[in-house]
Formats: sequence, structure tokens, C-alpha cells
Amino acid sequence: MATEILTTADGREKTALSKRHAATWFAARKGESPAIEIGTATPPLQPARPERPELLSPREVPKRKPGSEAGRIALLHAVAHIELNAVDLHWDIIARFGHVPMPIGFYDDWVKCAEEESRHFEMVCDCLENMGSYYGALPAHAGMWRAAEDTADDLMGRLAVVPMVLEARGLDVTPGMINIFRKAKDEQAIAALEVIYAEEVGHVAYGSKWFHFLCGRENADPKDVFHQLVRRYFHGVLKPPFNEEKRAEAGLPPDFYWPLTEDLPAPGSAD
Ligand SMILES: [Fe+2]
Ligand SMILES: [Fe+2]
Repeated sequence: MATEILTTADGREKTALSKRHAATWFAARKGESPAIEIGTATPPLQPARPERPELLSPREVPKRKPGSEAGRIALLHAVAHIELNAVDLHWDIIARFGHVPMPIGFYDDWVKCAEEESRHFEMVCDCLENMGSYYGALPAHAGMWRAAEDTADDLMGRLAVVPMVLEARGLDVTPGMINIFRKAKDEQAIAALEVIYAEEVGHVAYGSKWFHFLCGRENADPKDVFHQLVRRYFHGVLKPPFNEEKRAEAGLPPDFYWPLTEDLPAPGSAD
């Protein structure tokens, strides 16, 4: 089921299928339909994506002023791209790590996240369409799937980088985005971003929960392992300011992320 979503290219088709499969999963979990076995799958290294948007390297994506209508469309377009990517990321963790024995709650959590990301994508697409645009009208960042490829063989690395670094970053920047749409009195975009802001806390929390679970299984110190894995798989340092309040709500303590704001000196180099 997860692989079927990953190999569906069109955005709205992907999210419709994602919501359908999520509903099937939760109906089975409530005993309303036959149980679904956790199988193993061979998901594609990269998910299928629509022909548009054109994917460019971040340097080539034109920057627009957020004070203008065109700037707000560009901002929502970037959010839609992130949300579609997030749909694939959550199904990918389910499909790719089926060989790692995990409690059933692990699957419940990521199916729920995937269902939420599907709604996020659709809400943001609705906003774009009401502004006379659509997802695919502008170029989008290539390389968003890089974190998934880098951690394709490492479940703990995936949890560290995707929910606990990238989705946590979303908590830092979303309030500023909501303010931009408040100034423009765009009620539809404010409502969509507020849903996203509230639900993303849960995604970070699930990441932290299962990361701690796996560290506990290996009797390893979660903070040390987190620092090692982020330094191995994440390109660059973490950038403050952090939303310490929402990060705390999601089970991400300051000593996890603050040390990662600094580059480590190269081994053997004098200070
Ligand atoms: Fe989202
Ligand atoms: Fe998310």
C-alpha cells in the first residue's frame, strides 16, 4: 500500500490514495476489517512526482518578496512542495524499514502523519487555486528527497534527520509565515497554516518517541546518538532561532539541538 502511494505521480491522486489507504489501515486496526500484515516492500529510491513543478537547485529558485501577492503565492507553493514530499517521506519510512521489527504503534503513528500531510497538501493547493495559481505553476526545490536517500539504510538516521531536524524546523518557521498571511488578511491561508502548525508538533513527537525507543533497545544514550547521526547525515548546521516551546512539547530538549548549531572542528586540527 505504501509503495503504491510512492509510485503515484500526480499530487492530488497521491494524496487521495494516501487518505484511502490510511482509512483502510485504521479500519483494520479497529477490527472493522481484516488485519493488515506488515510486509516487506521494495519502494523506489525516489518517489514518482508530477511533471510540474520543475525541480531546480535551491540557488536557482527565484526569491520573491513576501509582501506581494506573487510572494505569498511563491511561499504557499513552497509549502505545498514540502507537504507533498512529507506524504512520501511518511509512507517511505513504512515501506523501507518493514524488515526492522517495530511495535504496531510505529505504523499507526506514520500512517496518521501521512494522512495529515495529505490534507496539508490539499489545503495549501486549495489556497493556491483560489489565488489563481496551482501546484506546479512555479519551480520548486530539488534535493528535498536527499535526506531520504541518505538515510535509506538507517532507520535511526531517518528519524533523527526527517522528523527531529526537518519537521522540527517547520515548527520554527511557521509562526512567521502565519504572520505574513495575517498582514494580508488571507483567512484561508491562515487557517491552513494553523492546522499545519498544530499537527506538525505530533510528527516531531512521533520521531522523538521512536528514536528514543530504538536507542533504548540498544541501551544507547539518545542525545549522543542523535548528535552523531545528524552530523553524519544532515548537511550543514542547525540554525537558530528555535521554537523552544513547541520543540519541548514535541519531546525535543534543547541539549539535542543547540550543540548542532556549531561546526565541529575537523579531527586533528588545532583550535
Ligand atoms: Fe505537514
Ligand atoms: Fe509533518
